[in-house]
Amino acid sequence: MAQLWGGRFTKETDQLVYQFNQSLGFDKRLFEQDIRGSLAHAGMLAAQGIITGEERDEIMEGLEGILKDVSDGKLKLEGEYEDIHSFVEANLTERIGDAGKKLHTGRSRNDQVALDMRLYIRDEIDETKDLLADLLRAIYEICDQNRETYMPGFTHLQKAQPVTLAHHFGAYFEMFKRDLERLSSIRDRMNLCPLGSGALAGTTYPLDRAYTAELLGFDGPCENSMDGVSDRDYVLEYLNSLAVTMMHLSRLSEEFIIWNSNEYRFVELDDTYATGSSIMPQKKNPDIAELIRGKTGRVYGALMSLLTTMKGLPLAYDKDMQEDKELTFDAIDTTKGCIQLMKGMIETSSFRKDRMEESAKHGFTNATDAADYLVRKGMPFRDAHGVIGRIVLRCLDEGLKLDDLPLTEWQKESSLFDGDIYDAISMKTCVDRRTTKGAPGAIDQELANAKAYLDQLKED
Ligand code: ARG
Repeated sequence: MAQLWGGRFTKETDQLVYQFNQSLGFDKRLFEQDIRGSLAHAGMLAAQGIITGEERDEIMEGLEGILKDVSDGKLKLEGEYEDIHSFVEANLTERIGDAGKKLHTGRSRNDQVALDMRLYIRDEIDETKDLLADLLRAIYEICDQNRETYMPGFTHLQKAQPVTLAHHFGAYFEMFKRDLERLSSIRDRMNLCPLGSGALAGTTYPLDRAYTAELLGFDGPCENSMDGVSDRDYVLEYLNSLAVTMMHLSRLSEEFIIWNSNEYRFVELDDTYATGSSIMPQKKNPDIAELIRGKTGRVYGALMSLLTTMKGLPLAYDKDMQEDKELTFDAIDTTKGCIQLMKGMIETSSFRKDRMEESAKHGFTNATDAADYLVRKGMPFRDAHGVIGRIVLRCLDEGLKLDDLPLTEWQKESSLFDGDIYDAISMKTCVDRRTTKGAPGAIDQELANAKAYLDQLKED
């Protein structure tokens, strides 16, 4: 087994200990970031005269060669190496000899892994943002096509007031937009370079930390070397952000599941996004939505796990921190996959305007508007509420909806009712009258803002 630290040891590591300790099995994911960091480090070492220009060129050529061989499949990310850092250094030295042994000058695996993880999380944040932008575009399309698709809005899962499908999906647009913005702010905060922190106390070499930071696209080096090697709060912030996104995805999944049920049938899932039953031939199940809802738990788990891992660690580096990787990788893969699948499910589903509108007409979703009608005719709202309550009761007794109740019946409860009551409580009026900012009748403005946001995302 290739180890970087054999000198002070007189015996080989126990095999069980080696297996328990090694991280190559999972930190091989950081391979590309590890090479990127080493290229910058070598460039800086030469610029500072710590290694020669010739040694730098050899190192860089060697690293590029390793990168290429791995991407061509000629070199496999496996073998008896403790971690990805050992893998790269051992392969480099095998290729170029002594210059390879100089690469680690002024560097520790502690700042190296802190750098790799930061580069990796930064890359993943960018990809997650792109996927969220795609999801937002898909949601916008549904909103745009359904400005006049009336449906019941719910509270307590009871029909409440009429809204439109555009307004309903518009709410999710805002949620996923905040998720995207949250990622941007995490990225801004974490974009400082830990390389040069050394094991914990910096180094005695005249490193130019600002230069490596710049080479790697950071805003600058992080301030404190002990903080640089030992905090993982940016991973936690990212995991938290993924957990919130999964929570949003899970709520939307739940809506799909309810809307796809036999009782609702607001949505028809495409055959490509549904599954069948091995025994019940009639079934078309919303497994994708259920799985997204289900996988939310493991992303929460990753967040709780790392919070717990970190909570008792004294400064600076502790090996516990190696546990920041596996569950984080899993949470990233899971969330990215779920965002893509949600986008696909939205794009392929058919929304049943007829069913939604029919449902909104039943369940007295226009009762508030009937009360508002009386208020416009001068009755105090509390009295109007009582009048309409009694009319609803009457309708329930007779199995009628408000729209079908004869005028004479309305007038039995209040002489303020006239023939115009029917128009005042029509679905369209109920929605169109709600024109305060953020309400369903102001959807055109809301969607114009959404469109402007998407256009600006494209430009960034
Ligand atoms: N595999 C380690 C990790 O992921 C790399 C850093 C190891 N440093 C050390 N001093 N053993 O944290």
